[in-house]
Amino acid sequence: MNYTYSQLPQVEKTEQERSERIFFKDVIEGLTSNPKRLQSKYFYDQAGDVLFQEIMNSPEYYPTNCELEIFTKQCGLLAKAISCKGDDFDLVELGAGDATKTNFLLAYLIDQGIKFTYKPIDISENIINYLSSTLPLLLPGIKIEALNGDYLDMLSKAATGSKKRKVVLLLGANIGNMSIAEAAAFCREIREILSCGDMLLVGADLRKNPHTILAAYNDKEGTTKKFNLNLLTRINRELGANFDIDSFDHFPSYDPQTGACKSFLVSLKKQIVQIGSTAIPFLKDEIIDMEISQKYTLEDTRALAKASGFIPIADFYDQKNWFLDTLWLASE
Ligand code: TRP
Repeated sequence: MNYTYSQLPQVEKTEQERSERIFFKDVIEGLTSNPKRLQSKYFYDQAGDVLFQEIMNSPEYYPTNCELEIFTKQCGLLAKAISCKGDDFDLVELGAGDATKTNFLLAYLIDQGIKFTYKPIDISENIINYLSSTLPLLLPGIKIEALNGDYLDMLSKAATGSKKRKVVLLLGANIGNMSIAEAAAFCREIREILSCGDMLLVGADLRKNPHTILAAYNDKEGTTKKFNLNLLTRINRELGANFDIDSFDHFPSYDPQTGACKSFLVSLKKQIVQIGSTAIPFLKDEIIDMEISQKYTLEDTRALAKASGFIPIADFYDQKNWFLDTLWLASE
């Protein structure tokens, strides 16, 4: 469906129309700002999901495997740290995805007879349906209440819906895909929803040799390039745009001083792209800011905890010390 601002339907008939309208608004806002930008949450359509799976399987992309190693090799320690109070608690996961990593922890907790309810939150209805139907088969005895929607809305719902202690998981690249200031604001919002004594486990990709980091966002096969360009294809398909994909290139960058790893698209020529009835002019070599993947030092994570009202109580690293899952306690 093609929209212009003035033609936006006042009342959407379906949820799909609503999300299409928001997608259109976000794309136009992003591409009319300076510098131009697109939101990375829109990478993950069906083709984007497949390409991201390919990125995770590429030899250069290390973060997923590092965090998976933490969850496979240290789940006993993790389980002990989050269940130290011996109470029945809610294990809430923000952005659960297919819960590959968390499965190891869930299996261990069940095996040890530790009482908890798993509350995965995800923006994808598909994922939530998948988790609700498959996890009870994979992990007999699991108590699961899956929540479909926005992270903070659903976390509030989980917090008001049960008085049990909360342990919140915020794994993978979640925090990384925000600037440090945005991450601090987000963690502060989480803290406001939580109560004293609740916990937050945050995954952070650590700074390391800049070549290693840059290569992870610039794989030799070119899948990361395809992944970025796929968002233009999605805009063409869903919003009736006419991006000529071949006249855009991918430019990955990593700044070892700030730890910011960024993906850009570059317009290879002066061109005008039509999105519905909106014309978006591009200069030759003009960039679109696609994604930040912030890399942290241990001190950065400590500052983030402090700024958002948490006290770090345990750290879990992979063997290479490339990735950190840091456990925080909600303090007064
Ligand atoms: N957002 C994830 C990350 O920071 C996934 C990702 C890998 C990604 N490569 C990318 C996102 C390139 C955008 C562009 O690791």
